[in-house]
Amino acid sequence: MGVFATVGSSGLLFLVGAVVVVMALGPTSTAALGFSCSNSTAAATCRGIVGYKSPNQTTYPAVQALFGVTDLLSILGANGLPESTPATAPVSKGQVINIPFTCSCSNGTGTSQGIPIYTVQPGNTLTYIASEVFSNLVTYGSIATASNISNPDLILAGDKLKIPLPCSCDSVDGERVVHYGHVVAAGSSVEMIGQQFNVSADVLLRLNNLTSDKDLLANATIDVPLKACSSVIRNDSLDSSFLVPNLPNAAYFLTANNCVKCSCSSANNYTLQCQPSQIAPSNWTTCPSMQCQGTSHYIGNSTGSSCCNYAGYTNQTILTSSDTCPVTDNYAAKINTGAFSWNTVVTLLMVTLSLHHFHNLPTVFRVF
Ligand SMILES: *[C@@H]1O[C@H](CO)[C@@H](O)[C@H](O)[C@H]1NC(C)=O
Ligand SMILES: *[C@@H]1O[C@H](CO)[C@@H](O)[C@H](O)[C@H]1NC(C)=O
Ligand SMILES: *[C@@H]1O[C@H](CO)[C@@H](O)[C@H](O)[C@H]1NC(C)=O
Ligand SMILES: *[C@@H]1O[C@H](CO)[C@@H](O)[C@H](O)[C@H]1NC(C)=O
Ligand SMILES: *[C@@H]1O[C@H](CO)[C@@H](O)[C@H](O)[C@H]1NC(C)=O
Ligand SMILES: *[C@@H]1O[C@H](CO)[C@@H](O)[C@H](O)[C@H]1NC(C)=O
Ligand SMILES: *[C@@H]1O[C@H](CO)[C@@H](O)[C@H](O)[C@H]1NC(C)=O
Ligand SMILES: *[C@@H]1O[C@H](CO)[C@@H](O)[C@H](O)[C@H]1NC(C)=O
Ligand SMILES: *[C@@H]1O[C@H](CO)[C@@H](O)[C@H](O)[C@H]1NC(C)=O
Ligand SMILES: *[C@@H]1O[C@H](CO)[C@@H](O)[C@H](O)[C@H]1NC(C)=O
Ligand SMILES: *[C@@H]1O[C@H](CO)[C@@H](O)[C@H](O)[C@H]1NC(C)=O
Ligand SMILES: *[C@@H]1O[C@H](CO)[C@@H](O)[C@H](O)[C@H]1NC(C)=O
Repeated sequence: MGVFATVGSSGLLFLVGAVVVVMALGPTSTAALGFSCSNSTAAATCRGIVGYKSPNQTTYPAVQALFGVTDLLSILGANGLPESTPATAPVSKGQVINIPFTCSCSNGTGTSQGIPIYTVQPGNTLTYIASEVFSNLVTYGSIATASNISNPDLILAGDKLKIPLPCSCDSVDGERVVHYGHVVAAGSSVEMIGQQFNVSADVLLRLNNLTSDKDLLANATIDVPLKACSSVIRNDSLDSSFLVPNLPNAAYFLTANNCVKCSCSSANNYTLQCQPSQIAPSNWTTCPSMQCQGTSHYIGNSTGSSCCNYAGYTNQTILTSSDTCPVTDNYAAKINTGAFSWNTVVTLLMVTLSLHHFHNLPTVFRVF
């Protein structure tokens, strides 16, 4: 565990530990819009994901509405929940929810494309919107820049603000990744974040322009490049840029108008695993055949070393490829169908407990 210092309302510094460096409050002074995104591909778009820490008890459809996400299923899948999850299923206060969105790169930085749009409520300030409503995923400066607000102190109820969620479409060390926006918890370290997402501490430091843990600010949103799976999706497919990351707690990502669900894990040597989703398609009356031609196999089936893999889709068909299988002991059984896991419960409990714990302190700073 890290060492903490707490600052009381009197401004006195109470020390709980030995060597102490107190960090500035938050990343609000610079108005960088998103993560660095130098991808030169004209108008590059890709998958972005942020971890939203819900400030209140709420529901998944409410979170979906706040973030302007089109499909609730995409949120459920990114959070390890079954498609059948009822709309009333609670999201607890302090729970971190993975929000998938489309990332767009321009002018050297990556931000969410067009969403969310937030309507200012009576009494809101930009700081409140950035730090409370959007749990520090954005700063008041980035909202002001994205929404072209010249006087950040002057926003009116009913104003519609662009919320630029940070993201990037850049490869990292030549590898395709999905950039995850993670809000740094008080008392965490680069090492801990690296372990949580299975990303090396060196890469985290370099990508976020940090020289050491000392530069890591509580509540800053940092760029965590999640390794993405390789696939045999064709470059002429409508989802040729479909990228699925190895994201802890995520179960599946949907594609082909929701007919196919895919997952990515180290257990399959980071090779994309797909199978029929068995949910109603979003843009077809029924899902096209998912059978590999000339075989009795469907996407996700295997015999010995031959696998029926997902290879993309066109506006009428789903493409398949009879191929070699990834290195694994149990090909088809690997896709988590979204059963509620005890891991989630334990994580939630820990989050809740730590929140209660921190609640007793006036302010918690990152200290070394
Ligand atoms: C691009 O970014 C620079 C600073 O990084 C800024 O001065 C300029 O206005 C931006 N251009 C556009 C079109 O957003
Ligand atoms: C982090 O943000 C939360 C939510 O806005 C706030 O309650 C907390 O005081 C902040 N912590 C620090 C260290 O700034
Ligand atoms: C959380 O709930 C409280 C009580 O209902 C409300 O006053 C507050 O505005 C909510 N916070 C956010 C960020 O929605
Ligand atoms: C931003 O606002 C200023 C005036 O406040 C206006 O002159 C300018 O055209 C606006 N820019 C955009 C991109 O809306
Ligand atoms: C740029 O982004 C595109 C997807 O929009 C991706 O195919 C390509 O590999 C990326 N290039 C680099 C150098 O990151
Ligand atoms: C973490 O990454 C390493 C290297 O890619 C891999 O061998 C290991 O299985 C991964 N662990 C998890 C839990 O994904
Ligand atoms: C990286 O950090 C250094 C010192 O903190 C700063 O001078 C530099 O502008 C930063 N670079 C970027 C790309 O943020
Ligand atoms: C698409 O892939 C084929 C081979 O699978 C290759 O010949 C072709 O050049 C690729 N096209 C593009 C635009 O990358
Ligand atoms: C895992 O995949 C990589 C590249 O995708 C390949 O080079 C490596 O041989 C594979 N590992 C095994 C054990 O097959
Ligand atoms: C083949 O895949 C289909 C669809 O996922 C599944 O229902 C069936 O059980 C699989 N068959 C075998 C032999 O694995
Ligand atoms: C449905 O598919 C057609 C053809 O691919 C496409 O033009 C249209 O935008 C799609 N609609 C939706 C809602 O995805
Ligand atoms: C569907 O595909 C056919 C060719 O396969 C093409 O002619 C047609 O324009 C496509 N329709 C849409 C809506 O994209």
